[in-house]
Amino acid sequence: MKSAATVAALASLATTSLAQLVPVPKIEARATASASASASDSATGSSSGSLPTVTTKGNAFFAGSDRFYIRGVDYQPGGSSGASDPLSDYSTCSRDIPYFQKLGVNTIRVYTVDNSKNHDKCMSALADAGIYLALDVNSPSYSLRRDKPQVSYNKVYLQSVFATIDAFAGYTNTLLFFSGNEVINSDSSTTAAPYVKAVDRDMRQYISERGYRSIPVGYSAADVSSNQYAMARYMDCGEEADRSDFYAINNYEWCDPSSYEKSGWSSLVSMYSNYSIPLFMSEFGCITNTRTWKEAAGLFTDDMAAVFSGGIAYEYSAEGNGYGIYTISGDSVTAVGKQPEYLGNQFNSTSDPKNGGGYKTTGSKQDCPAQSDDWDTSPFSGSALPAQPSGIEKYFKDGAGDGPGLGGSGSQEAGSTEVSTASSGVGSATATYGSGADSTGDSSSSGSSSSSGSSSSGTSSSAAVPMKAVAGGGMPAVFAVAVAVSFGLGAVLL
Ligand SMILES: *[C@@H]1O[C@H](CO)[C@@H](O)[C@H](O)[C@H]1NC(C)=O
Ligand SMILES: *[C@@H]1O[C@H](CO)[C@@H](O)[C@H](O)[C@H]1NC(C)=O
Repeated sequence: MKSAATVAALASLATTSLAQLVPVPKIEARATASASASASDSATGSSSGSLPTVTTKGNAFFAGSDRFYIRGVDYQPGGSSGASDPLSDYSTCSRDIPYFQKLGVNTIRVYTVDNSKNHDKCMSALADAGIYLALDVNSPSYSLRRDKPQVSYNKVYLQSVFATIDAFAGYTNTLLFFSGNEVINSDSSTTAAPYVKAVDRDMRQYISERGYRSIPVGYSAADVSSNQYAMARYMDCGEEADRSDFYAINNYEWCDPSSYEKSGWSSLVSMYSNYSIPLFMSEFGCITNTRTWKEAAGLFTDDMAAVFSGGIAYEYSAEGNGYGIYTISGDSVTAVGKQPEYLGNQFNSTSDPKNGGGYKTTGSKQDCPAQSDDWDTSPFSGSALPAQPSGIEKYFKDGAGDGPGLGGSGSQEAGSTEVSTASSGVGSATATYGSGADSTGDSSSSGSSSSSGSSSSGTSSSAAVPMKAVAGGGMPAVFAVAVAVSFGLGAVLL
């Protein structure tokens, strides 16, 4: 959301869902209830109806052999700051599923869940309805703070994130995970970007180390024109292990009456035409003028489909900001004007583009954006990222254990003001203190990096440059950098 009301200082709130015209290729969407009685009490879900799992290929999503387009609605009754979990309460999700169907969606996005609760019943009922889940892994107390990224990026936080993954990885209709939502929400908050990308990296590593299927992980970017595209490039640059699986933008440009050209979506398509990973709108739905949701159909033209894989309409429930499609009061759900009809008709009247919609597998990764007035990730530059907090290796090895839920004491102050830079493509810190220049991660960075050092000598410098980041009280944090030079890491750098 664009409005400040959405997020407070927190980095992670959102709900989405996708709808679809063409029914999801539905394979036996039936609860298998294979979980044992005791498992049904645990957060780690496993029994659910079954939908084809979704993977990425080139710049598209696939469900089996068919390209998958997100037709979704953002879903967080009570609002983001209310922070209640709609998917652990069967009376809530079962109340709303028929209304999702009316909207013609194939996906919902949920911004906050309770990772200590079990979600089998709702996930199963959603699968039965042909609906996938796009899930934010953060909660108000367990999230990155854009004004204190280094302190809030810590072991306690990642344990919660990983526990959320554990809770949802077992469901076939878990579509994707958002590593963050609108953490960067202004011109000046790009210093949080390396931490956002580090969380994305850590989640991908966790999924892989735990042997889960490759559930896509990516970031949902605020509608801030000065850095939304730079962030897109950033999430798709550097080493493979650091690059995101997809990127999603929140976009409110199309206000009816409008069009592909007039809205500016045509410019988006040109801008992102060489983007190599899947891209979609994690929120859309302008409320200026009369909101007739024509853009929901506009997402599925051939022009759009070559670059975008659908979008998620903001939002299911009226939360006082004018964006709701339904008003919820106790058990009763009522339409806001003709909103459900408008949106449902647009999704329903548009089929998926033919022949894979012009998706491509030929894209290559982006160059990391250079530092500029609009893009300041100091003290990290190029593809350099913060090292993983020590102590998280055990989660990779043994799993995250019990999630703290929404009532836990929170993680945002649990870290340290000291941060190290990871060697490229590796989360662990390898550097030692010394003196030198800024942290550099790849050859696009300036400074003292040995960008030519492809053959590593024991003396190449710059891969893992630990630094002391001293958190200031305000934002952005002020870093006092004590730079170090590490040895033997030059070869790891791009
Ligand atoms: C859209 O299609 C779904 C599935 O066929 C249907 O249940 C729903 O009522 C339709 N929505 C509208 C607004 O016609
Ligand atoms: C994509 O296009 C942009 C703008 O034209 C350009 O700066 C960038 O280098 C291109 N990236 C790739 C991977 O071709």
